[in-house]
Amino acid sequence: MRKLTYYIACSVDGFIGDVTGDASAMLPYVDEEFLDFLKSEYPETVPTRGRRACGFDDLENKRFDTVIQGRLSYDLALKDGDVSPYAHLRQYVASRTLAASPSPEVEIVGEGLLDTVRELKAQEGGLDIYLCGGSRLAGELFDEIDQLVIKTYPIVYGTGMPMFAADCDVAGFALGEVRSFGNGAVVRTYDRAR
Ligand SMILES: NC(=O)c1ccc[n+]([C@@H]2O[C@H](COP(=O)([O-])OP(=O)(O)OC[C@H]3O[C@@H](n4cnc5c(N)ncnc54)[C@H](OP(=O)(O)O)[C@@H]3O)[C@@H](O)[C@H]2O)c1
Repeated sequence: MRKLTYYIACSVDGFIGDVTGDASAMLPYVDEEFLDFLKSEYPETVPTRGRRACGFDDLENKRFDTVIQGRLSYDLALKDGDVSPYAHLRQYVASRTLAASPSPEVEIVGEGLLDTVRELKAQEGGLDIYLCGGSRLAGELFDEIDQLVIKTYPIVYGTGMPMFAADCDVAGFALGEVRSFGNGAVVRTYDRAR
């Protein structure tokens, strides 16, 4: 089975952005040391334009070959005129309102979201599936999430967008890798205890 991994940037108090979802306050923590980590461990999680700007768009995918994001997260790329933000991955966008995909590289998944995710997980071979967010989609897919990779930056929002916008059942996860950085960021990996 391929894993569905919720890989997400988060504040110390567990928010993925401010109340509007704006996560830009966390961006300054992507400094040289952190970017080196992303390049060596998770290059495919950086959008294609960012990879180009940083000069590593030729790096091979290491952990993921597929990305799924919610329509509101995809909207942020669309507002920048970017219809295919993760061109180096197979891209799925969850939406019941988008009638047609703005790009042939992006597949829209509506009512059949859960079935599609289960089918992707059941596919043989390949790399894992990057659940990019946001909060609502992660809440909807909570039971299917096999792994969390939480990039915690040393800021407190006080209030904001939670990791999961849904009433999830309590679920246990086992701590895997932990990596800390000079600027106070910590990246923790958790596998669901099934
Ligand atoms: N900190 C981070 O690393 C990070 C990462 C990603 C995103 N974010 C933030 O998250 C915010 C967006 O999160 P959000 O929770 O507001 O929205 P979201 O999860 O990105 O998108 C929600 C939309 O996804 C679609 N959707 C959700 N569940 C579905 C289902 N079961 N079937 C079909 N479609 C489904 C719906 O689209 P329709 O309305 O079209 O039906 C829904 O309105 C952004 O502001 C972004 O900055 C932060």
